[in-house]
Amino acid sequence: MAELAIIYDRVRPDEKMLFEALDELGVPYDKVFAPQLKLVFGEPVPWKVGLERCVSQSRGHAISRALEGLGVRMINPSHVIELCGDKLATNAALAIAGLPTPRTGVAFTAESALELVEEMGYPLVMKPTVGSWGRMVSKINDRDAAEAIIEHKEVLGGPQHQIFYMQELIEKPERDIRAFVVGGVCIGAIYRTSGHWITNTARGATASNCPVTSEIAQLAVQAAQAVQGEIVAIDLVEDPKRGELLVIEINHTMEFKNSVSTTGVNIPKLMGEYAIQQIKNATLA
Ligand SMILES: Nc1ncnc2c1ncn2[C@@H]1O[C@H](COP(=O)(O)OP(=O)(O)O)[C@@H](O)[C@H]1O
Ligand SMILES: [Mg+2]
Repeated sequence: MAELAIIYDRVRPDEKMLFEALDELGVPYDKVFAPQLKLVFGEPVPWKVGLERCVSQSRGHAISRALEGLGVRMINPSHVIELCGDKLATNAALAIAGLPTPRTGVAFTAESALELVEEMGYPLVMKPTVGSWGRMVSKINDRDAAEAIIEHKEVLGGPQHQIFYMQELIEKPERDIRAFVVGGVCIGAIYRTSGHWITNTARGATASNCPVTSEIAQLAVQAAQAVQGEIVAIDLVEDPKRGELLVIEINHTMEFKNSVSTTGVNIPKLMGEYAIQQIKNATLA
């Protein structure tokens, strides 16, 4: 039994790379398969620190909460998952921190959503507050499209889809930027380039190295701070109109498989080293 737990539910290439990096660092760790994990409060677990890597966000969040209740120092902490796992919560935290984002609005019924869409103007992006890989991120060019999407969300969607979250469409170049932050340092960034306006690599965008400018580093670190994220990936877009970078979202269980060879930065090693440091801190505390 080790002091470090890597909690996962699927071994993606990212988890493989993380395991390899930890092996190279020579740190003992337990691979904890989340679907088989059983926890009872008051019954201790061996781990001091847990690195949450679940693909299922709800499972990762629940496990983090439970393990924190058993005294495990979780990376990221559960309150970070709460903020990053919900785009509305993220945007609220960014607004409090005064950080730049696309103009963003929210409405809570189909009727008021259509009114808000018309007030904010076209083109507009509507997205689920909980989601990833660009799924259901929708561009609305006119009232007909707005009515269709809002009705589909109202009739077919669960309670979560009754929160109508919308954003000004930023006419970015054919790319966005993903910046990686580990322990308050921006360790690297990639461009994600695509002919499609949705630039997730899961949707076919290609990754290439993005030099970390002081503007990228500063905004990425501030955004991570705004949600108290320890190991996070920040999606940024270049807004030609404002002439500045805007924060789109913050990912708490970041995927990095396309970003190690592209950036030349050993991201999983840095993640491992951060986790080891937290074991030392937990031991001193
Ligand atoms: N307001 C926007 N303006 C322009 N492009 C956007 C906007 N919001 C999202 N996108 C594009 O869609 C992609 C996915 O959106 P994002 O909010 O990051 O959701 P997901 O969690 O699914 O990745 C972004 O990487 C970006 O390319
Ligand atoms: Mg994203």
